[in-house]
Amino acid sequence: MAPLAALEFFDISHSYGGVGAVHSLSLSLAAGEVVCLLGPSGCGKTTTLRLAAGLEKLQQGEIRMLDRTVASGEGLNVPPELRGVGLVFQDYALFPHLTIAQNVGFGFNETDGKAKQEAVYNVLEMLGIEEFSGRYPHALSGGQQQRVALARALAPKPSLILLDEPFSGLDSRLRDQIRDDTLHVLKQSGAATLMVTHDAEEAMFMADRIVVLNEGKLQQIGSPDTLYCAPVNRFVAEFFSEINYLTGKVSGGTVDTPIGLIAAQGLADGLDVEILIRPEAVCLSAVNEASERRQVHVVASRMLGRTSLIHLCARRQAGDEIHLHARMPGRFLPDENQALAVELDPNQTFIFPKNL
Ligand SMILES: Nc1ncnc2c1ncn2[C@@H]1O[C@H](COP(=O)(O)OP(=O)(O)OP(=O)(O)O)[C@@H](O)[C@H]1O
Ligand SMILES: [Mg+2]
Repeated sequence: MAPLAALEFFDISHSYGGVGAVHSLSLSLAAGEVVCLLGPSGCGKTTTLRLAAGLEKLQQGEIRMLDRTVASGEGLNVPPELRGVGLVFQDYALFPHLTIAQNVGFGFNETDGKAKQEAVYNVLEMLGIEEFSGRYPHALSGGQQQRVALARALAPKPSLILLDEPFSGLDSRLRDQIRDDTLHVLKQSGAATLMVTHDAEEAMFMADRIVVLNEGKLQQIGSPDTLYCAPVNRFVAEFFSEINYLTGKVSGGTVDTPIGLIAAQGLADGLDVEILIRPEAVCLSAVNEASERRQVHVVASRMLGRTSLIHLCARRQAGDEIHLHARMPGRFLPDENQALAVELDPNQTFIFPKNL
């Protein structure tokens, strides 16, 4: 028998005073899976997490955990403390009057004092913060507090962990380190994780699967690879990187653009389309007389570290000019006004009917 899903949403919807925040969302998390809810501010991520935790009363649909209904639109709402989930919020919400060990032991259903002490120590050790067990939260740095909040959520060994922007209060170097540690600890714990973030790179780093939301509506669910390489619409494509945006019309299975013909399989002749090209899909090379590739001109080039960013101008005819960004690996700094040949990587070029 397949293991039970740690969390399932069946067609859940939620509104605040008649204004919709989550619309008909369905989702299932397998045991041990890390799933990220990704989307812009106000798209309903925190609301979805609060519904799973039981902090918000479900209005429509059903939520199940390990095959047990914990909330339904018909009025069932199992309180948060009986759902067996671990919670970590953006501000960590540690109890200031309790020591780290007491914070982590809080809400722990273990009556045997020695066993509890041992379990608390084990989880502190797993997160590398056992030396702080006797301190109070105010005497810890932000990164250390984040670890304590995670330890508190993990200590009772829940089958589901809910994290709301858990790294947003940390500076970027520390954030990378703590993300990495958190991912290892979550995977080691075996708990399923639903994590909220508005940062696409963070979601790609953490998640087995990503759920992209916009205005409370599901856009796409899939692995980071699927979402990056096969987005279903402009919103998803643009959420994962900067994008070059062109428009055109399909003619004979292709679209003619200032940077060449782009294949448009399956799209009807005469259809207005939008073309989205990731900067790393704009491949540049020296102009070769024999080549039929279109030419572009360099407006500026900048070294950004791992990649170089090249600003380009492409022209089909006078007045029909477009500005493009290309990203080339390593150091690639052509001179201003230099002509280069351009080729597109079709795997990072997406065509959608206009206004999809
Ligand atoms: N308690 C509330 N009362 C009324 N409206 C609310 C309440 N909580 C959230 N909303 C509204 O519901 C929508 C979704 O909010 P939510 O907090 O779920 O977004 P979010 O995706 O977590 O955004 P952010 O990235 O800014 O945290 C927003 O329009 C928000 O203003
Ligand atoms: Mg939020």
